Amino acid sequence: MNRLEGKVAVVTGAGQGIGAAIARRYSQEGASVVIAEINADQGRATAEAIEGETGKPVRFIETDVADAKSVEAMHRQARKAFGPVDILVNNAGIAVFGEPLATSMDDWRKCMSVDLEGVWHCCRTVLPDMLEKSNGAIVNIISNHAFTVIKSTFPYPVAKHGLLGLTRSLALEYADRGIAINAISPGYIDTPIADWAFSQAADPARERRETEAKQPVGRLGRPDEIAAVAALLGSDEARFMIGENIVIDGGVTIRMYE
Ligand SMILES: NC(=O)c1ccc[n+]([C@@H]2O[C@H](COP(=O)([O-])OP(=O)(O)OC[C@H]3O[C@@H](n4cnc5c(N)ncnc54)[C@H](O)[C@@H]3O)[C@@H](O)[C@H]2O)c1
Repeated sequence: MNRLEGKVAVVTGAGQGIGAAIARRYSQEGASVVIAEINADQGRATAEAIEGETGKPVRFIETDVADAKSVEAMHRQARKAFGPVDILVNNAGIAVFGEPLATSMDDWRKCMSVDLEGVWHCCRTVLPDMLEKSNGAIVNIISNHAFTVIKSTFPYPVAKHGLLGLTRSLALEYADRGIAINAISPGYIDTPIADWAFSQAADPARERRETEAKQPVGRLGRPDEIAAVAALLGSDEARFMIGENIVIDGGVTIRMYE
């Protein structure tokens, strides 16, 4: 469990859910971790909890990934605390779901600014650290909405399809300079964002039961099941993997229909 010993990792949106599980796993693997999170209470509490468990340094830095200046300020603080960044996990994301013509331009912009532009802000800010060392890894947390679509979840899949394109474009661009850029596409994972999606249904408990029953494995995924693969992608062991998108969705997208 010391795959990331000596590495400095920034995990965005790591106050809860999948990001918190990745921050915890990275810390267990020996990395110094920055939790770059917009929710200060949640971010601080998670950083303290993980540091208490692992004894490795975990720093919360209040960050809005949608705001380039906030990302640059986070990066300056992260460098001051731990030095140049070796691993960036772009996990922060929001679900904006609707019927296309009922979606306001404000909602469209909100979704794009966090789920797509936010990732670019972080990549363009942190990549120079990695290029200087000719070593680094970026892990983008996308979604199976990056290549399949559910009606009335607009514009979330638009942003996530774009994020797959961003992953591949950057991966190819920097492959010969020691940087491995890859993605993970989770399916239904049991986190607060999933709870929110269930809460939109008329009967949330029934919606959850039906969703679980629709999964080939009969349950939702766990955040630590994403974190385990994120640990591999962040490590030096995965440097020949370039522009890959690892789908972890319990088999949902390989099924044609029942
Ligand atoms: N849970 C799922 O089923 C699922 C499935 C596929 C993909 N994903 C993706 O995984 C990622 C994490 O999802 P989750 O379920 O853990 O979500 P979550 O809502 O539980 O956690 C997201 C975290 O990101 C933070 N955040 C939101 N906007 C931010 C911003 N502008 N700047 C910084 N932090 C911000 C939130 O405060 C929160 O702590 C997202 O990108 C999501 O789209 C989730």
